[in-house]
Amino acid sequence: MRILVTGGTGFIGSHTVVELAEAGHEPVLLDNLSNSDEKVVGRLTQITGKEFPFYRADIRDREALESIFSKEDIDCVIHFAGLKAVGESVRLPWEYYENNINGSLVLTDVMRKHGVKNIIFSSSATVYGTPAFVPITEECPKGQCTNPYGWTKSMLEQILTDMQRADEEWNVILLRYFNPIGAHESGLIGENPNGIPNNLMPYITQVAVGKLDHLTVYGDDYDTEDGTGVRDYIHVKDLAKGHVAALSQISAKCGTKVYNLGTGTGYSVLQVIKAFEEASGKKIPYEIGARREGDIAECYADPAKAARELGWKAEYGIHRMCEDSWRWQSMNPDGYR
Ligand code: NAD
Ligand code: UFG
Repeated sequence: MRILVTGGTGFIGSHTVVELAEAGHEPVLLDNLSNSDEKVVGRLTQITGKEFPFYRADIRDREALESIFSKEDIDCVIHFAGLKAVGESVRLPWEYYENNINGSLVLTDVMRKHGVKNIIFSSSATVYGTPAFVPITEECPKGQCTNPYGWTKSMLEQILTDMQRADEEWNVILLRYFNPIGAHESGLIGENPNGIPNNLMPYITQVAVGKLDHLTVYGDDYDTEDGTGVRDYIHVKDLAKGHVAALSQISAKCGTKVYNLGTGTGYSVLQVIKAFEEASGKKIPYEIGARREGDIAECYADPAKAARELGWKAEYGIHRMCEDSWRWQSMNPDGYR
């Protein structure tokens, strides 16, 4: 299939381009580079030996999208483009709703005008809010999000579901990601956060490479095994392969489908630190701090539905995730700069 990958130079988008190309699909990349670097395109060619069309464009720019859809014979869109920093979304709610929701409305409008009614959307476990139960199945009710970013995911799921209900030609796949970490084994592409990282793994790797001096563990008084927060970390390569697997449902005219993409295993912050130290041989100094507002105690997936219906299962464990995150960071201490 010829697949438009919005957010194609971003962290998850770039890894998905590799897996799509390796599975024989033809990815076409679109990104406004607000949170990524054009160098990614060259790195993707280095990894795969293939050239990819890249459009520097904004999903809110109708004219640019019209021209891309007129020129490229797109079968399906994998829609990663969006702003994703939780804390920033609390400060800049309008910007988040405008970029993520308005952008997706423009994109899907241009898609339908061009008869492209297949979309795989990057959603998040954040839509479960404080989950009613763990492990989280897709039947777990959606909850109250704690920030505007999370609401954009929850609202976009509803918008896409309603569009599909009104027009059965649409096929909509909502993929709820748990916590993607790791990087391609080449060390050529990886996560490249702007400024001080918000997320655990990029923070740890920046401590390991000497850019930050220690990690603060946000709370050790949760009701978990060691008191620190538990998450379902998933290797970005496994996550990327989940998108390739989801394409089979698009071909089968699936209507609307929702899948959790996680491993099913939770690790605490202290367990991740230990795994990283073992994988990298670096000591990670840390101190215990207060809980971070909006955090929950534990969040991990029941990934059985994706295994059953997509034939997809995460393969990599925490050790390999840490090894690959570290290889990326140590080979690229300043990201793509
Ligand atoms: P990322 O920031 O690395 O990638 C997103 C890309 O979208 C960036 O390259 C950015 O430049 C681009 N972009 C943003 N707004 C755009 C616009 N208006 N037009 C065109 N391009 C635009 O983030 P990521 O980690 O790769 O996440 C990809 C998707 O997955 C996002 O939608 C994110 O919300 C979702 N997601 C991520 C996580 C995670 O922990 N990384 C978890 C759940 C869901
Ligand atoms: N943590 C620390 N110190 C840090 C950073 C994080 O102790 O410096 C802890 C958090 O408290 C949490 C765990 O590490 O217990 C993971 O935190 P992350 O920020 O890496 O990830 P979250 O689970 O909070 O959120 C991420 C994404 C969200 C997404 C969610 C579910 O940032 O966008 O996963 O997919 F919605």
